[in-house]
Amino acid sequence: VIAGDGIGREILPAATHLLDSVSTHHGFKLRYQRYPWGCDYYKEVGSMMPADGLGQLAASDAILLGAVGAPDVPDHISLWGLLIPIRRGFEQYVNLRPVRRLEGVGGPLAARGDAIDFVIVRENCEGEYSQVGGRMYSGTDQEVAVQSALFSRLGIKRIVDYAVDLAQSRRGGLVSATKSNGIFHSMPFWDEVCRETCAARGMEVSLRHVDALAADLVLRPANFDVIVASNLFGDILSDLGAALTGSIGLAPSANLNPSGAHPSMFEPIHGSAPDIAGRGIANPTGQIWAASMMLDHLGEPEAGEELLGAVEATLAESGVRTPDLGGTASTAEYVKAVEERLHERRRGESHQRQAQ
Ligand SMILES: NC(=O)c1ccc[n+]([C@@H]2O[C@H](COP(=O)([O-])OP(=O)(O)OC[C@H]3O[C@@H](n4cnc5c(N)ncnc54)[C@H](O)[C@@H]3O)[C@@H](O)[C@H]2O)c1
Repeated sequence: VIAGDGIGREILPAATHLLDSVSTHHGFKLRYQRYPWGCDYYKEVGSMMPADGLGQLAASDAILLGAVGAPDVPDHISLWGLLIPIRRGFEQYVNLRPVRRLEGVGGPLAARGDAIDFVIVRENCEGEYSQVGGRMYSGTDQEVAVQSALFSRLGIKRIVDYAVDLAQSRRGGLVSATKSNGIFHSMPFWDEVCRETCAARGMEVSLRHVDALAADLVLRPANFDVIVASNLFGDILSDLGAALTGSIGLAPSANLNPSGAHPSMFEPIHGSAPDIAGRGIANPTGQIWAASMMLDHLGEPEAGEELLGAVEATLAESGVRTPDLGGTASTAEYVKAVEERLHERRRGESHQRQAQ
């Protein structure tokens, strides 16, 4: 467990509290190892995590993360010092980001009532997020920066394969985000490997330029099922998707190592939200949903479903909302409402059993 910074420290305890409740009910126990890594650790020690940080995490079955980032630490230091080394070191090459409108949540498209239920499969280990490049002539008028994006056949093929599997288990629609008109080398390569991989799997894929795709996600979100995208495009599209469903505070993500060779990591998609940190008003839904995805991954899908179901029921039935969704509830009040839904459901189950 890495709570990290800002609201990460408020929403992560909320998730572990609820995890304890569902695991007890389902007859298993989670043991947490808590790591104090993040920006405060950096300010004290000079690094975001210890040099053997990955070694310490390696024995875990899964990693649950809050959020990382602080206004007085440059973002490239915090991201490249903790999150990216974990994603890459543990080959978590799939960043799975479900985007679903939850009943009872408005959002900017509420008046139109579109059904929104798609998944973004974001490539998580290469692409535009690379350290390759450099700066020269610093501080002069001739200063230049060069940033290289890295795309490999292996990297593209494995993420597309994952997206095909997922699309085949869902409604079967696969869209790939590209920009092969403007990006001369890497995106035509992405398209080529994507087409080949899909053809070999008998899967139809629609290649869409990411700018037009972004517009279409706003205009016709119900048309989308699975979207496979590079690291940068997937990152941007998933914030857009979360905003369409009502708040960035709702959206979860799973950084998966599909082979199981290393632990996978589960976190909300948002950052540390310094603008609201410390006020106890953060929406913990994305974090709780990420915890539910972790339970699925750990082989406890019924517990995961119960946890997410309680969140959905809270939003659909209770009217308890954090301020990002137009409500006045604190994080603690919202978590209490979720816990009440868990108890209600259990009472319902036990009445059903007695009636049988
Ligand atoms: N995975 C991560 O840990 C991650 C992801 C994105 C940004 N960051 C870092 O977080 C810091 C802040 O970044 P940012 O402001 O661009 O993005 P952010 O996601 O932290 O916040 C964007 C906006 O959304 C709101 N918001 C986010 N999560 C919320 C929640 N759970 N409940 C209610 N409102 C919520 C914030 O108040 C803010 O107005 C930066 O240091 C950035 O690098 C970290």
